[in-house]
Amino acid sequence: MTTPFGVYIHIPFCSRRCDYCAFATWSDRHHLQDAYLDALTVEIAREVEQGMPVATSVFVGGGTPSLVDPDRLAQIVSSIPVTAGAEITIECNPESVTDEHVAAYMAAGVDRLSFGVQSLSADVLVSLGRDHNPDTVVRAVAIARAGGIRRLNLDLIYGGAGETIADWQHTIEQLIELEPDHVSAYALTVEAGTPLADDPSRHPEDDDQADKYLIADSLLASAGYENYEISNWARPGQECAHNLLYWRQGNYRGFGCAAHSHQDGRRWWNVRTPDRYIDLVAGDESVEASAEDLDPDRRRVEGLQLSLRTREGVPRRSLSESDIGLLDSLIVVAGDTITLSTEGRLLANEVAVRLR
Ligand SMILES: C[S@@+](CC[C@H](N)C(=O)[O-])C[C@H]1O[C@@H](n2cnc3c(N)ncnc32)[C@H](O)[C@@H]1O
Ligand code: SF4
Repeated sequence: MTTPFGVYIHIPFCSRRCDYCAFATWSDRHHLQDAYLDALTVEIAREVEQGMPVATSVFVGGGTPSLVDPDRLAQIVSSIPVTAGAEITIECNPESVTDEHVAAYMAAGVDRLSFGVQSLSADVLVSLGRDHNPDTVVRAVAIARAGGIRRLNLDLIYGGAGETIADWQHTIEQLIELEPDHVSAYALTVEAGTPLADDPSRHPEDDDQADKYLIADSLLASAGYENYEISNWARPGQECAHNLLYWRQGNYRGFGCAAHSHQDGRRWWNVRTPDRYIDLVAGDESVEASAEDLDPDRRRVEGLQLSLRTREGVPRRSLSESDIGLLDSLIVVAGDTITLSTEGRLLANEVAVRLR
């Protein structure tokens, strides 16, 4: 079997910035799009020339990848050597996807789209400051399917201001109607430095988010989706290979500004802004901002922390027998493996800090 190897490509442009988002993305630098895609092309060609391994998964994320010229993005994706049957995903915002996007992506071998749906309640989308409504999502899913995309992930966020339990239940029910094969549901997180952080009146509440998590898990499970990582559910066989590679500490190369890479315990990341990235590539200089070498023990513990979050769990010896007794309702011990219980998925850090 080919050793898994992932490629991540970062597209740092959005039509506007959501006020909860801390990702490396800009809404005032569209004039850089062409130069940025040129720089990506050059950086990838260099790595391929230097013998970059053949990728088993490619993920184009952002920002909003569907905002840039789909033909140019497709050309970039096509320049990456991939294995037969590699998983190739592009993250899209529902409002910016057209038949032309899907046709260009399909021609580049893309078999999976990930839509940032966030909610299927119109009011919640407004309060999240999104540019789409529930109908836009239905339309985007139909366009993807009509264009031949086989695999769909839909991303959701829960706990935004004004979102009722009924809104959330409605979102999950409507989402199931759309029959995606993969769902990611994230608790809204207050990220430092965002406008949301400055407005405590809109901060999410832990109990509300816990209730919403349990509703999502139960409705998704009844509809045939299995939870395989705390925030991710998939129909059997539709788990995201690229995510699994990250969680199993596999090797991957990130291209573009702010992209991270990992090779056998060495992690490094690129400069954060598109301007700087473009200049460095043009000057034939390294785009690496910084790097760290993980000592073997830290790498081992990080591996356990990641695995604990998945249904693969951790070996029983990773917790002391007294902690196993103490953590009782948060874990499930089956033979030599410990996994999180449903309640434990809500309090994963309580378990993670005790891993040894
Ligand atoms: C960086 S975004 C890129 C995708 C796309 N631009 C979008 O927003 O729909 C990837 C996902 O991160 C999640 N996300 C972003 N900021 C978040 C936050 N503060 N808390 C929880 N989830 C967040 C959203 O679900 C989003 O779909
Ligand atoms: S569209 Fe996505 S990446 Fe862009 S600002 Fe909003 S959450 Fe962040």
